[in-house]
Amino acid sequence: MPKSPPIYLDNAATSFPKPPEVVEAICRLVKEISLSPGRSAHRFSLAASRVIFAARELTADFFGCPDSSRVVFTSNVTEALNVGLFGLLAPGDQVLTTGMEHNSVMRPLRYLEKTRGISLAILPTSATGAIDPDDIPKRLNSKTRLIIINHLSNVTGSLADLAAIGKRKGGALLMVDAAQSAGVFPLEMEAAEIDFLAFTGHKGLFGPTGTGGFLLRPGLKLPPLKMGGTGSNSEQEEQPQLMPDCYESGTPNTLGIGGLAAGLEFIRRTGRETIRLKEEHLTRLLLEGASQIPGLTVHGPPAGAERGAVVSLTMAGRSTADLAFLLDRQYGVMARAGLHCAPAAHRSVGTFPQGALRLSPGFFNTEAEIQFVLAALEQIGIGK
Ligand code: ALA
Repeated sequence: MPKSPPIYLDNAATSFPKPPEVVEAICRLVKEISLSPGRSAHRFSLAASRVIFAARELTADFFGCPDSSRVVFTSNVTEALNVGLFGLLAPGDQVLTTGMEHNSVMRPLRYLEKTRGISLAILPTSATGAIDPDDIPKRLNSKTRLIIINHLSNVTGSLADLAAIGKRKGGALLMVDAAQSAGVFPLEMEAAEIDFLAFTGHKGLFGPTGTGGFLLRPGLKLPPLKMGGTGSNSEQEEQPQLMPDCYESGTPNTLGIGGLAAGLEFIRRTGRETIRLKEEHLTRLLLEGASQIPGLTVHGPPAGAERGAVVSLTMAGRSTADLAFLLDRQYGVMARAGLHCAPAAHRSVGTFPQGALRLSPGFFNTEAEIQFVLAALEQIGIGK
């Protein structure tokens, strides 16, 4: 079986390729207005401010948030989650979370557990990585300040039912890590009663790396993680309270945020549901094909379940690192092996510490590419 042209199946890490309009937007911005927005009053700075403002409006609209000043841009979803966790939690607070969280949630939580005296309650998960929203009310108590939920697992592709979770949150705040789901699955902040929604720009939203952010429910106040120049209230030595400036100190990533806006426009033009259906189709092909290959085990929801385009596999007698290496070097297929920065999720589904080989199709993959990778896995399995 000959090596193919490169096949990229690591879209859960970062979507690739980017739509042409994203590439064009970034190239145009770097040539014309890669400047400091909201600082100087000259025309180039104002043009840069307009780029950021348009991106903020698009993002608010995309996530069903009526007020774009409640959209904050950060350098990635990890920073967004850190703002929320460090800003919202105080000594004595209990946090309810799941066994499917990424280290971008678990590491700040474990740190706050040690240093700030918060406590964690972890919701049980099924063998495929799903939580049961009915378990939430049983774990809530007067100290539960926050429920933090991974919307779509980067390990198994399992999807949390946010509407059901929102209805069961009681007096707690609901924070959603939408790193893997934004751009593919519906995410209406108000409808799902989400208080803090963290997203990344470089996965399903088709923006470049170095982009992300969060949306805050009106009335919710928390301190920023970083302070400094905002281009506003410059007479004050105190951090302004103004939204979103209070969270966006330092020169913003105009190029990246402009690219993210182009990604959002691409989704609007293509249709989020069209994207979801294409990914669902490719994932089903992958899951059905993988289930026919002797020695391969799929970890996560089966084909036909409502799930994301993340397929984690193990092969009897082969390490996952070996599998990823062979796929890349002998067949030209790019995938991610190991623990995916989510050891908790791998523990929950029984793939810790060896991890899994993760194949994550995206909108630009084809059926032929999925057939190719299945044939490659079959051949690797035979040659063991
Ligand atoms: N969190 C990203 C992944 O799952 C980087 O690969």
